Amino acid sequence: MEKNNLDSLDTIFQDKVDREIKIEPKDYMPDAYRKTLIRQISQHAHSEIVGQLPEANWVTRAPNLRRKAVLLAKIQDEAGHGLYLYSAVETLGADREDTIDDLHEGRAKYSSIFNYPTLTWADMGMVGWLVDGAAIMNQVPLCRCSYGPYARAMVRVCKEESFHQRQGFEIVTQLAQGTPVQKEMAQEALNRWWWPALMMFGPNDADSTHTAQSMKWKIKRHTNDELRQMFVDATVPQAELIGLKIPDNDLKFNEETGHYDFGEIDWDEFWQVVKGYGPCNTERVSARKKAKEDGLWVREAANVYAEKRARRNKKVS
Ligand SMILES: [Fe+2]
Ligand SMILES: [Fe+2]
Repeated sequence: MEKNNLDSLDTIFQDKVDREIKIEPKDYMPDAYRKTLIRQISQHAHSEIVGQLPEANWVTRAPNLRRKAVLLAKIQDEAGHGLYLYSAVETLGADREDTIDDLHEGRAKYSSIFNYPTLTWADMGMVGWLVDGAAIMNQVPLCRCSYGPYARAMVRVCKEESFHQRQGFEIVTQLAQGTPVQKEMAQEALNRWWWPALMMFGPNDADSTHTAQSMKWKIKRHTNDELRQMFVDATVPQAELIGLKIPDNDLKFNEETGHYDFGEIDWDEFWQVVKGYGPCNTERVSARKKAKEDGLWVREAANVYAEKRARRNKKVS
């Protein structure tokens, strides 16, 4: 296409975005917008799927039947989130299998939080309360994302995430109000999960390469630091309510700003985990590769069955 034409299409596109008109799969969109969305949504899908693994670790050891049923339902929701999101990626013309290969070959990332191990039952509480809680902060604004299919998928995802957050907080609350050993277990888990949860919002704004463009395209509505602050402000009073201590000596409510000030994140740890050297990176990707290999016979059988049905339907019509 000629450059002048492209320029005017880009102008019309940005004008639609500015007027809050959703961009739909068949609409014109700049290549860079499409690529950014494919990267972001596929990595979001991978996070949902990989995020099942740390919790799957505790399904067989849930303390009672109710907890097991709730945990299973929660993990199943995450599978559903992954499926909506892979479908949203396909509306952008990407091939689902290619995006999964990118994950397996180390070309695509997923949320770094899932590279930490789940060592005790209290970790199931922390994952729901903090990890799903941070996910909600990130995802509620995505319901207003300029790309229609992503925004619509997020509406349902967010409803389910709020259930996940509450089930986690319920686990943590019960432990915090339980025996001294249970309370200690909750505190120890909070000590391990607090900082990685803050890292979920990504680098500080000054070091975030994609933020400005994503905000102009209205894919993103808040910066990383704004979202992180919202999370801290919402979560600290919850910890206080149940008598747990956030592991940050610099944490203090600032009367002037109306927000909590908090300490510096260990960015070296963050980048180590992002680059693949976290405690569980290798384990997580191998589990996904094995699942793909183990499921091959199911996919083959489903394809043969679909072909057989199509042939049979043809004969009838
Ligand atoms: Fe999810
Ligand atoms: Fe969730």
